[in-house]
Amino acid sequence: MINREKFEKIKRLKEEKDAVILAHYYVDDDVQEIADYVGDSFYLAKVATGIDKKVILFCGVMFMGESAKILNPDKTVLLPDATADCPMAHMAQVEKIKELRAKYDDLAVVCYVNSTAELKMHSDVCVTSSNALEIVKALPNKNIFFIPDQNLGGYIKDKVTDKNIILNDGYCHVHKELTKESVLAAKAAHPDALFLVHPECRKEIVDLADYAGSTAGIIDFATNSEEREFIIGTELGVMFELKSKNPYKQFYPANEMQICPNMKKITLDKVISSLENMEHEVTLTDEVIDKANAPLKRMLEFKG
Ligand code: 13P
Ligand code: SF4
Repeated sequence: MINREKFEKIKRLKEEKDAVILAHYYVDDDVQEIADYVGDSFYLAKVATGIDKKVILFCGVMFMGESAKILNPDKTVLLPDATADCPMAHMAQVEKIKELRAKYDDLAVVCYVNSTAELKMHSDVCVTSSNALEIVKALPNKNIFFIPDQNLGGYIKDKVTDKNIILNDGYCHVHKELTKESVLAAKAAHPDALFLVHPECRKEIVDLADYAGSTAGIIDFATNSEEREFIIGTELGVMFELKSKNPYKQFYPANEMQICPNMKKITLDKVISSLENMEHEVTLTDEVIDKANAPLKRMLEFKG
């Protein structure tokens, strides 16, 4: 089947099943093309609160599907590939949270949305890379445990010096593997280009950047900038939106290896089969939904 036929089939299935398709910027271009909403984690979480369809098909990884389910317990949430899971989402321990809660009376557990529903259940507030700084600054708590990402956590810690921010040891392997050597080589090859990074990268990489922010932040920065060349330090799925919005600007990967294998598991064929057979439903117990909803809601209600 060529893509045109697949697109038509997906359109028919969406109507038949009363479904909406959400996709993260890191999935393949053709999957972004068939989605009703494409965005960063924060945008997609917001969109998920206002859906009027019975079925949400989430083209992303498990924690995104879980958040959509937590925010929409009465809807059917499908993931085209149930094995599309973010390793970092699992990189924090409930035991450690309990230990720190016992040590600090006022501890706030700040949970990056790239985390399992179980970790969210034990957290006080969720954040994404686009609102973490504002939310951490606004918290009344002096002691903060930031989970699971040590790099985003460290980025916030550097900027919020009046709080005791305790870091966890999780990381995103896609961003962590970006090296200083490859960034310096890209800068040498494109001396006029600005370097834009995601704060999931290591500090020595973020320190080389002209801008650090979420995927949507990177896209907005490049789109609004007067400059014409950019080196991109995040998963290369963002290139699709960057190039669509800015056909006359040049975008260079800081490294060709910035590919998330789990995001890339989502294909048009799997979208079709998931909708056709209503398969790979995200299911969570009422208790998990109830407890994990509170920190997500707190993030969504935050007014910066
Ligand atoms: P954002 O969508 O918040 O930029 O997050 C990046 C990411 O790693 C999603 O998996
Ligand atoms: Fe997880 Fe990194 Fe992939 Fe995002 S890019 S889903 S944080 S492994």
